[in-house]
Amino acid sequence: MKKYILAIETSCDDTCIAVLENDKVLSSVISSQIQIHALSGGVIPEVASRLHEQNIFFVLDEALKKANITLNDLKAIGVTIGPGLIGSLQVGLQLAKTLAVTLNIPYFPIHHLAGHLLANLIENKIAFPALGIIVSGGNSELVLLNDYFDYEILGDTLDDAIGEMLDKVGRVLGLPYPSGPIIDKMAKLGENKYHFPIPKIEGYNFSFSGLKTNLINFIHKREQNQENLDLENICCSLQESAFAQILNKTKLILETYPIKSILLGGGVAANSKLREKILNLETDNLKIYLPKLMYSMDNAAMIGVVTNLLIDNYQSAELTISAKPNYKLNDWGDYLNGQKKT
Ligand code: KG4
Repeated sequence: MKKYILAIETSCDDTCIAVLENDKVLSSVISSQIQIHALSGGVIPEVASRLHEQNIFFVLDEALKKANITLNDLKAIGVTIGPGLIGSLQVGLQLAKTLAVTLNIPYFPIHHLAGHLLANLIENKIAFPALGIIVSGGNSELVLLNDYFDYEILGDTLDDAIGEMLDKVGRVLGLPYPSGPIIDKMAKLGENKYHFPIPKIEGYNFSFSGLKTNLINFIHKREQNQENLDLENICCSLQESAFAQILNKTKLILETYPIKSILLGGGVAANSKLREKILNLETDNLKIYLPKLMYSMDNAAMIGVVTNLLIDNYQSAELTISAKPNYKLNDWGDYLNGQKKT
C-alpha cells in the first residue's frame, strides 16, 4: 500500500524536508544556511534557529510540490528529535507536532545519527551485526548495530568530533567554513609529508583535540618563520593522521565482533580519502555501505527511511515529548522498545 511520509530534519544549520512513498524518496529539499554561518566562521545557534523558522514553510512547500502531493495525502511524519542544537531541533519538532495534530496522523521522533547510518538503507538491504561509523561535524562514534534499532556504542570521541576538528584547523589555515570539503580537495594534491602523531588511546575511543592543537602550533610556527603554508601536504598529512585513528579502531572491532556490514554516515562520510580507505576493508564476508554523497550531509530523506521502518509496528510519539540535544543512540533504542506495538 502507498504510504506518503513527511520527514523533517533541522538539527543544526540545514532546513531539510523530504517526502517518501514508503522507502522511495520522492523529494528531498535542503535549505542550507552555510553562506550566512561562513560570515562568522561557524554556526551561531541562535541565528540557526531563526533561519529555520524563516525558511521551513518554503522548504515544506517545495518538498510537497516536488513530490506532487498535498498535506492531506500524508500518512505519517518523522522528525529529528536529537542530538543537535536545541533551538534548531525545536523548530522542526514544533512543525511535526502541529501537522500531526491538524492532519490527525502519527509522528515519530527519529535519532539524527540513526538517520545518518540508516541512510545506507536507501536502495540497500543490510546484514547484521553491522558496525556504524559516524563521522560528522558534531559526532564521531563507532556503534554496534545488532538490528535496526538495537545499538551499543563501542567507541566515542573523548573531545572534538572529527568534522569539528577539520573545520577548526581549516579556519587557522585561512580556509572558509566548512573546511572539511576543501581539505579533502587540497589533500588530493599533497602527500603525507609531516606524519602528524596518532594518539594511542585504550579501547575503541578516539581523540581529535591533540591533533588540532598540534596542527595549530605547527601552522603558527611556520607563519612566525615566514615559511609558505604548504597547504596541500598539510591537508593530506592531517587527513592521514585523523583517518588512521578511525581505521585502527575499526580494525580492532572487526577482530573482536562478527561484523557483516559496515555503515558509514555523517558529513565527513563525503570525504573521498575516507571512503576509499573504508571501502578497502571489504571482503567476501564484510560488505561496506557508503551513503550516496547527497545523503552524507544532513538531509531529511534519511529521517524518512527510518520513519518507514517504524510506521506499522511502533506507536506514535506523545505530544509532550521534547527535543533532546544530547540524545544517545542506545537511549533512543530503549525508547523505541517501549513504543513497540504488541
Ligand atoms: O553531518 P553534517 O552535515 O552535520 C552535522 O555535523 O550533523 O557534517 C558536517 C561536517 C562539517 O564538519 C564538514 O566540514 C564535514 O562534515 N564535511 C567533510 C566533507 N564534506 C563535509 N569533511 C571532510 N571531507 C568532506 N568531503
